[in-house]
Amino acid sequence: MRKIRKAVFPVGGLGTRFLPATKTVPKEMLTVVDKPVIQYVVDEAREAGIEHLIFVTGRSKAVIEDYFDAQVELYATLVERGKTAELSYLQEIQPDPGTTSFTRQQEPLGLGHAVWCARDLVGDEPFALLLPDMLMQAMQARKGCLSEMVDLYYETGGNIIAVQECFPEETHKYGIVGKGRSVAHGFEIINMVEKPREGKALSNFYINGRYILQPEIFKILQRQESGFSNEIQLTDAMLQLAGKEPFYGFHFKGKIFDCGSKIGFIKANVAFALSRNDLRDQIYSPLIDLLKEERAL
Ligand code: G1P
Repeated sequence: MRKIRKAVFPVGGLGTRFLPATKTVPKEMLTVVDKPVIQYVVDEAREAGIEHLIFVTGRSKAVIEDYFDAQVELYATLVERGKTAELSYLQEIQPDPGTTSFTRQQEPLGLGHAVWCARDLVGDEPFALLLPDMLMQAMQARKGCLSEMVDLYYETGGNIIAVQECFPEETHKYGIVGKGRSVAHGFEIINMVEKPREGKALSNFYINGRYILQPEIFKILQRQESGFSNEIQLTDAMLQLAGKEPFYGFHFKGKIFDCGSKIGFIKANVAFALSRNDLRDQIYSPLIDLLKEERAL
């Protein structure tokens, strides 16, 4: 079976829910504790064995490319000041030369179109797709969402979509899959619908923003017509591909934070701070005090 070597990150979105911050800072560069959102998602990809990172960017996102470059002057200053721990962390997370690619989605025509923009960079091999708005926190001692999907992929092949359960009243916000019989540690996907109307969902298993896809998706996306919200929808193209190739669902059991929304972003900051040994004890009591004060008002 072909190895999953490449990952696509669509980072072209405007981030209007985070204005005014996103006037000049891409939403993917907003920090959860002290790391940009995009770094968490890249870390998840690298943990899963991804070797090449493909970013589909847009205008005013150039800082993302700078972020993944070496910062020679900064490194020299850190050496001068003896900040060796900081320097070695920066060097550890810096992608090797030639392992990142950037292309631009010139018009905001939808997720399906953003993925299609990566077709030449991906080429004729299966690839991972990670939506950077969605931050995953694996359960203790478990691997990340994409790692677990890669494990499933090596058992089943085909295409894999990670899903989680949502409340029935939230199904209209997501792509929703219909669940078929169990396979390995996943299940067959028998149908999918992008943002079904309220009360019309196939299930409450929503697509959480992590995919492993076969390259045949690009040929379908090339001809894909606009769907929900007049955008080219990846879910519509996947449904077509499902007529020809198997699709499996992987039920991710960890926590997920939708950092495209203010609430998800704030929760992610608290959850990731609490998960860090260097911060947990210092932040726990002040947070409780803050919440008690709020309640007392
Ligand atoms: C996209 C996908 C949707 C998925 C969601 C997860 O929608 O189209 O299927 O459930 O991401 O965040 P968007 O959030 O871009 O509207």
